This record gives sequence, C-alpha cells and structure tokens, in this order.
Amino acid sequence: MQYFKQHISALLQASLREMSVPEIPDKEDIEKMLEYPPSPENGDLAFPCFKFSKILRKSPAVIASEIAGVFPHSEFIEKTVTVGGYLNFYLSHDAFLGFTLKDVLSKNSDYGRSSEGNGKTVVLDYSSPNVAKPFHIGHLGTTVIGHSIKKMHEFSGYKCVGVNHLGDWGTQFGKLIVAYRKYGDEQTVIQNGIDELVRLYVLFHAEAEKDPALNELAREEFTKLEKGDEENKKLWKWFIEISLTEYKKTYAQLGIEFDSYCGESFYYDKIPAVISRMREKNILKIDGGASIVDLSDYDMPPCLILKSDGSTLYPARDIAAAIYRKQTYDFSKCIYVTDAGQSLYFRQWFKVISLMGYDFENQLVHIPYGKVSIGGEKLATRTGNVILLKDLFKTAVDKVLTIMNEKNPDLPNKEEAAEAVGVGAIVFHYLSGGRIKNIDFTVEDALSFDGNTGPYAQYTYARTCSILAKAGDAVIKAENADKYVATAEEEFELIKQLSLFPEKVKSALDAYEPSFITRYIFDTATVFNRFYHNCPVLSADSEEVTATRLMLTKATGIVLKSAFSLICMKAPEKI
Ligand code: ARG
Repeated sequence: MQYFKQHISALLQASLREMSVPEIPDKEDIEKMLEYPPSPENGDLAFPCFKFSKILRKSPAVIASEIAGVFPHSEFIEKTVTVGGYLNFYLSHDAFLGFTLKDVLSKNSDYGRSSEGNGKTVVLDYSSPNVAKPFHIGHLGTTVIGHSIKKMHEFSGYKCVGVNHLGDWGTQFGKLIVAYRKYGDEQTVIQNGIDELVRLYVLFHAEAEKDPALNELAREEFTKLEKGDEENKKLWKWFIEISLTEYKKTYAQLGIEFDSYCGESFYYDKIPAVISRMREKNILKIDGGASIVDLSDYDMPPCLILKSDGSTLYPARDIAAAIYRKQTYDFSKCIYVTDAGQSLYFRQWFKVISLMGYDFENQLVHIPYGKVSIGGEKLATRTGNVILLKDLFKTAVDKVLTIMNEKNPDLPNKEEAAEAVGVGAIVFHYLSGGRIKNIDFTVEDALSFDGNTGPYAQYTYARTCSILAKAGDAVIKAENADKYVATAEEEFELIKQLSLFPEKVKSALDAYEPSFITRYIFDTATVFNRFYHNCPVLSADSEEVTATRLMLTKATGIVLKSAFSLICMKAPEKI
C-alpha cells in the first residue's frame, strides 16, 4: 500500500496547492496523515481534513469536498467520496491488483525488504544461556524474540551481528568443578551431556547445605581457573562444549545461527582497561570493600563492578563487552533482549558507559519481555517447575507426527515436516501476544492446533504450494500473462492484505514487536482461505481469471514464507 499512499499524497499536495492552501505539509507528512477506514465500505484510504479547518476557516467537510473537486484523475483511483471531514479514496480494483501483484511477483523473496538500514550495523545480544544450566522455557523469549528482531533488521537492510553472550564465567564453574571431581565421571558426562552437568550442579547445592566448606572449595577452584590453572581450564572448556552442543541442537530446530559465541569469559582480559578508565574518570568508589559506581544522582542503585576480593562482576563484563562491540563493529545500535526483570540492571550500566566518557549510551537498547510462569507458578529449576526446551519441542514434534501418521502417512520427509510444524506451533504461540505481557505457559495451549496457530499458518502456506503444483504448466502461462483482473471481492481483499506487508514489517521493526508479524500472518492466512473457498482457481471462468488467481496464490505463498522467516518459523511445502 505504500506506493499508493505516496501516489495519493502527491496528488493531495497538488490539490491543496490548487486550492492555494497556505502552509501545505510535505508529501511525507501528508502520507502519515492517511488512514485506513475502519470498514471497506468507506473506501481503501481516507484523508482527514480537520487540520486545515483553522487556517482555511471552513468546516472539515467543506474542505474535503473542495479537495475532491480539484483532485486530479488517476488510473489507480476509482472514485473519491467525502464523509464528514474525511475524503475517502476507493482504489481501482484492476489497476491496484495488477500493479501490486506484479510488484510482489517480481520482487519475490525481496518483497517487503527495505534499505532503511543500509550502511548501518546492529549488534543483537540474545538467548545467552548460562552454561551447565538447563535451557528451558524461560529462555524461549530471548531466543525467539531476539532472533525475530534480528531478522526484521536484516530484512530492513541493516547488517546484523547476532551474539550469544554465553554465561560462561563465574563462581558456578568452581562449584561444577568441585562437584564433577567429587561425584561425577567422564563417561556419564559424555553420555548424558548437559543433564549430567545440571545434576552435578544441583547435587553440589544440596551437599553444600550440609557442608558449607564446599562453597569455600568452589571459590578456590574458581580462583584457580581465573589464574589460568590448566586442569581447571580444561574442565571448564569441556563443560562449555557439552552445553553448546546441546544448545546448538535447539537452535537448529529453530533455524537460528549466531555470528558470535563470545561469552562472558571472552571479556575477562579486557576488564583491567575498563577499571583504569573508570579510575581515570574518578567514578569508581570503594563500598564495603567492593568497587562500585554510585548512581544516586540518577535515582538508581549503584552498579557493582568488582567484589572485595577483586574478582569481576557481571556488570563489568557487560560494560567491557559493549565497549569491545562498539570498537569491533561500530554499531549504530546494540540491542539486548532479556526479561523485563533486568530493565533496571541495563539502565544502570548503560549510564556507567556515559559516565566513563563514551558517547554511545543512547545506542544501547534494552528490549524487555514479560515473565513466563507455568500453571500460574514461577519457574524454578530446583523444585522442578520448569519445562526444558528440548522436551517441549519433542512433545510437539511427536504430537504432529502422530497426526501426520493418521492423516498423511505417505508424506515425504515426514520427520522434517513434523519438526517444522511442531516447533513452529510453539514459536507462533509464544510470539502471538505483545512481548511485554507476562505469559502463563501451558503445553496444552501451545500445542492446540486450532484457530490462530502456527500449524494453521503453515497449512495455508502448504496449500498455496499444492495449488501451484496441481496447476502445472498453467503457472508459467499465468506468470507471463500481461494482464490480471479483479473479478471478486475476495481477490481484492487478498491483494490489499498482501500490499500491507512492507509497512507491517516497518511497524514491527520500529516497535521491536514480532507479534505484529504473527498477527499479520494469521490475518493473511484467514483472508487467503476465504479467497480459496469462494474463488475457484483452476476451474475459474476464464483463462485470465485463472491466471490472476494462480498468481494471487503464488504471491500469498511468497509473503507468508517471508513473514515466517521473520519469526523463526519454517515453511514446509507439504505437511
Ligand atoms: N546469561 C544471562 C542469563 O541467563 C543473560 C545474558 C543477557 N545478556 C547480557 N549481555 N547481559 O540471565
């Protein structure tokens, strides 16, 4: 629709000039004033005239009809009607459909892409689980929201660097090393992977309750690791490798790849320079032995940098990472996707960046999302109120496979399709609501495949593929047709829906809101299915109509597939 908004804005500007209106807005501002009427009876676009009432000393309704009186002819506009203070535009169905359809088909997977970010780099820090801790439903948000925001930026021309800021440093490694040596063995870790690491970690806590001396031991082992002890370093590296292998399986199911896995440990040797700069700027204070940056002038609690024993704290690593990323990537934005509980934390250390004399605080962006609970209860690894992502995905995929075995047993690549649909169902469900809303997650809800769901959307995509496959040679003919015609309301409704994709991407990007895309996918699938049920494609009345409908089907597939890719959902052609 963007093209038509621009077109109408130019004509509106010419009309206002013709009427000698003083202070005519820019074309861009006129474009922003255009609205979508609430119902198609009122046209396809509407221009509110209220704003001009004061300067022209006339009622908005009179102004609207005066504009209508001088509005130039356009092949894209069927008619204009004034209602109240609005001038409503009715697009010419044939011209609009022909133009938009050709636009989608010729751009194909580039349809909806923009160049807004050309020349700019965005770093995205997301997922970032803590090594040797379970990868669970609490991480789904940062993982899929983060990746989706990355995809939207890429689609909008930004160069993106996805960073997995692994939690691979800290006293927990001392605990794990102690627990492994005391209660573990190599074979079991190799066999059970991260599950065994988690078991050892939990066991350590249970044992340390009885024997607090274990904590001291763990601290010592971590200090040894910090000092570069070879044995501990070897174990630590191994624990990371085991954890990463597991995470990468889950990422592959989601179609996610990271450009960097530089975790917290990567910044260890970069912290001394950070500390010196803080000292230089005189912002480091000693408080009860620890080193902090006082933020009371900004109504925030202090940012903790070093423990009293001199070891580095989490914020110090984030500060070092931000400086490193700025120097390495020269980002125009560095985006952090975490749950809303960490908002204050990010505001704190963003401020410290400024206090250190850097000028990029306002390029650091924290994107929070709502908390997840299960059955109304907080997530808690210790009590077992947690759902592991691998288990959740497996349940979903198994359920889909069962259904496929019943309904479509001969489907080629059944396992692959089942994985795409099962995982897609969960992702779509998770991204359905606004990101900031808290989610009470239940497996039943996530795996209900009725209504507004991922499988419904994927099924619709597969339907477009099967129609095209069935059409065979007619598709080539349709592609080369020189004219497309609009003969039914549903066709026009569908092409209008497809024409909205570029601006939906833009608004989702501006709001960092994948749910706008999810909503768009659902609406598009619904409109397509209405079209499909009411407009015969292959048995249409004429070749021209068949060509149009086939190409509408193809265009829908193109748009759905692109939209899926923006929200980590795969697009199997057969399900
Ligand atoms: N590892 C952290 C956690 O699991 C998330 C890291 C977020 N990113 C960052 N740069 N602090 O809570």
